[in-house]
Amino acid sequence: MTVKIQMTVNDKSTGAVDVAEGTMMIEFLHEYLNLTGTKFGCGVGVCHACTVIVEGKNGVSEVVRTCINGVERFEGKKIRTIEGHAERNSAGEITKLTPVQKTFLEHFSFQCGWCTSGFINETTALIERLEKKPIAKDQVESVIEEALNDHICRCTGYVKYYEGVRDLILNTKGLTV
Ligand code: FES
Ligand code: FES
Repeated sequence: MTVKIQMTVNDKSTGAVDVAEGTMMIEFLHEYLNLTGTKFGCGVGVCHACTVIVEGKNGVSEVVRTCINGVERFEGKKIRTIEGHAERNSAGEITKLTPVQKTFLEHFSFQCGWCTSGFINETTALIERLEKKPIAKDQVESVIEEALNDHICRCTGYVKYYEGVRDLILNTKGLTV
């Protein structure tokens, strides 16, 4: 049995695609769209490596795990994966990283990189929330912890991730008051 699915991924419509019933979103990204930057970690919803961004209609995005959510959940939605962050030229080459990508690079936040796309998506959603609703400087630590707490890094690069995000929030105008 198949289901017909349509969604927009990284600003590109997938068109109507016949997908085997029960297909998880991560499998759809990998096998149907050839977007392999979203990583399969635990496969049971614990590590959050497979997190993508779902753009909300009201401009507020949410993060969703793709290993435990079937493709049907994303029907008609706008999705952002790790491939949709940096700017690219017409040849598909990366020309500009986002501030989140830059801060992770500058802080050497990742080691093997398996968990990184999940961290990037979660942090990006957090930054977008703060752009709409800035926080007090003394809340920064707890807000980062709340956002990133569920993300597991088997290389244990947490300190560097947290440093990168803290630096970005404190040094970006408008995110704190
Ligand atoms: S791979 Fe999805 S939560 Fe671990
Ligand atoms: S950098 Fe290796 S799992 Fe996080």
